[in-house]
Amino acid sequence: DWTPGAFIDDEVAKIRAKVGTSRVICGLSGGVDSAVAAALVHRAIGDQLTCIFVDTGLLRLHERDQVERTFRRHLGIDLRVIDASDRFLDALDGVEDPEQKRKIIGHTFIDVFEDASASVGEDVKFLVQGTLYPDVIESASPTGGPSVTIKTHHNVGGLKPDMKFGLIEPLRELFKDEVRNVGRELGLPEEMVGRHPFPGPGLAIRVLGAVTRDALGVLRQADAIYLEEIHEAGLYDEIWQAFAVLLPVRSVGVMGDYRTYENVVALRAVTSTDGMTADWFPFPHDVLARVSNRIINEVRGVNRVVYDVSSKPPATIEWE
Ligand code: XMP
Repeated sequence: DWTPGAFIDDEVAKIRAKVGTSRVICGLSGGVDSAVAAALVHRAIGDQLTCIFVDTGLLRLHERDQVERTFRRHLGIDLRVIDASDRFLDALDGVEDPEQKRKIIGHTFIDVFEDASASVGEDVKFLVQGTLYPDVIESASPTGGPSVTIKTHHNVGGLKPDMKFGLIEPLRELFKDEVRNVGRELGLPEEMVGRHPFPGPGLAIRVLGAVTRDALGVLRQADAIYLEEIHEAGLYDEIWQAFAVLLPVRSVGVMGDYRTYENVVALRAVTSTDGMTADWFPFPHDVLARVSNRIINEVRGVNRVVYDVSSKPPATIEWE
């Protein structure tokens, strides 16, 4: 029978055998999966592991500080933070296609890791990734459907073919709830284990169309208000994932005596057990009303908020 404890023992043994005395790097995304993967590999090989957190410029508000604080405090793992936001945003300049964005981001991640690994040591041979089973399936083909890629999750399909690292993906056969239990067993704090999933390409796939610094700034503010109100209402743990999306659409509004012509923000919140299927979350209307009022009043450049009432399938969780 599968238990987190037995899984950890098995994986620790496998990781030790694979790695030997090499050095290993792990990219942290701030999400649950990479945190659990890092903690597991750390359990196996201790300070042969260095974690790298890349600020892609595509993170949520205050995310970088939160990740730094949580990791240094709870994991005691060697952590390097690299600001590569210019590199990512330059590479994404003018790119509108979602799969193209994923590919560029995946490749840029590897380039940044390769550069960073040089400073970690010459004997870095492996890269740890928090790939889960649904990532593997969804990058290959839709559930039960024809063999067509829905989205190339960057940590599965988007890696460079000539990458010089071997991969360690200890969570490759697990679902999210199992990963959370492994994390708890490894002693990770609930605030980390219970976090909503956050995609590797970050806000780049939530600014629909071309990604600009201005658009990211607007989205970050709207998203922060939304999450703040969800926490305030005590609903965070009932929701699988909640986020704002900035639409490449302007709509007409009125502010005082003036006509406005500004952006639309869509709010998404879903319940799910594994991310493969999902239902939209039935928010109490007063919560939606507060979020909408606050976003329209506090975020410059947004005059309309809509709520996404689509389930997966046939929609997906992210809009891109
Ligand atoms: P979709 O949008 O495919 O999302 O229904 C299912 C889950 O996967 C996350 N997601 C990604 N995660 N790289 C990631 O690491 C990606 O390119 C990516 N695309 C979607 C999404 O946030 C949801 O949790």
